[in-house]
Amino acid sequence: MKRKISIIGSTGSIGTQALEVIEKLRDKFEIIALAGGHNKELLAKQAEKFKPRYNCLGEEGLEKICSDKENDIILVACSGKIGLKPTLTAIRNGIDIALANKETLVMAGDIVMAEAEKYGVNIIPVDSEHCAIHQCIKDINQVDKLIITASGGPFLKKSVEDMKNATVEQALAHPRWNMGKKITVDSATLMNKGLEIIEAHHLFGFDYDNIDVVVHPQSIVHSAIEYKDGSVIAQIGLPSMHIPIQYAITYPERFEGIKSKSFSFSEIARLDFEKPDYEKFPTLKLAYEMGKLGGTATVCLNAANEEAVFAFLDGKIKLYDIYKITKKMCDEHKVIKNPTIDEIMAVDKEVREQTQQFINLNFVLK
Ligand SMILES: NC(=O)c1ccc[n+]([C@@H]2O[C@H](COP(=O)([O-])OP(=O)(O)OC[C@H]3O[C@@H](n4cnc5c(N)ncnc54)[C@H](OP(=O)(O)O)[C@@H]3O)[C@@H](O)[C@H]2O)c1
Repeated sequence: MKRKISIIGSTGSIGTQALEVIEKLRDKFEIIALAGGHNKELLAKQAEKFKPRYNCLGEEGLEKICSDKENDIILVACSGKIGLKPTLTAIRNGIDIALANKETLVMAGDIVMAEAEKYGVNIIPVDSEHCAIHQCIKDINQVDKLIITASGGPFLKKSVEDMKNATVEQALAHPRWNMGKKITVDSATLMNKGLEIIEAHHLFGFDYDNIDVVVHPQSIVHSAIEYKDGSVIAQIGLPSMHIPIQYAITYPERFEGIKSKSFSFSEIARLDFEKPDYEKFPTLKLAYEMGKLGGTATVCLNAANEEAVFAFLDGKIKLYDIYKITKKMCDEHKVIKNPTIDEIMAVDKEVREQTQQFINLNFVLK
């Protein structure tokens, strides 16, 4: 039987790679729907090639796709807060989720995971680190610690001064991964890792003190877990998002699919690991702090950071301002514990407005 799948964000970096996986596994999947944001031409080409039952552009159609019980699984690969509501709709319709969109768990991890449990829905992570942990864990009760690897981004070996004067082009020149612009800038500041520890906290139910980050520039070890007895299990492989995407949409089965060559230990010259530099990458520390506060603290972190990243990409602020602006918004935020989805959306909107206002007053008009 073919697995019936829809892709939200089919025109993005994850979405297009997912379609490459599906192309290799044409006999395993039937595409119910494809959804993109603005790229009409690409969506039309995808529709022509993959013949989904329907496709849509923009946010409007997402609820329809996610309420369509014909779906066995939905890959949520859009960027930003728009992933949250459709994901919840899919969960409430009993549809499994392959989750790439980080913001869904960063904004509302408590609600999303509780609903997934209530409706008996699987949430399979697509992010390579969480996918690695998902593959390593056999008995979660025996695990002591999650170890999340970080490539360190383009500024790992650069000075703070270099980072302060970094151009958009330099921030987008990620040494290992080819991703959307927002996540690439987050990887340069290590905010991406910050969002990932929050994601990991919700996905696997670990306290923040039991989630470590280690810098590993080669991106071969995708993450690891440490069992109570000291045994460490790591998942390794070449840095390609095709592998975690395929894992997530075919879980629990595995197929050759997109695999192009076998992993060769002898071709890997060396593997390096180092502690993250919290002085140089203060966003990571901020993410731990906001994660520990919980409630709407992570909503604020995510919204302020995203607006600041957009301002950086627009040439309005410098790279290091992203941290300063996000920190200021987080310091001023009054956390709501156990927020409802409406409260989460309201905080998200308010923080975005305040962040934009702050940027316009203090940076753009100066
Ligand atoms: N790229 C990676 O390697 C990677 C790895 C791990 C996790 N992730 C996470 O996966 C998510 C997607 O990342 P990405 O790198 O693939 O981003 P991306 O390349 O920017 O793609 C974003 C996708 O979302 C769609 N979209 C934007 N606004 C929309 C709207 N209003 N309604 C419907 N769709 C909309 C875009 O459509 P248009 O292009 O048509 O506007 C595009 O298809 C993010 O949350 C990211 O953190 C990505």
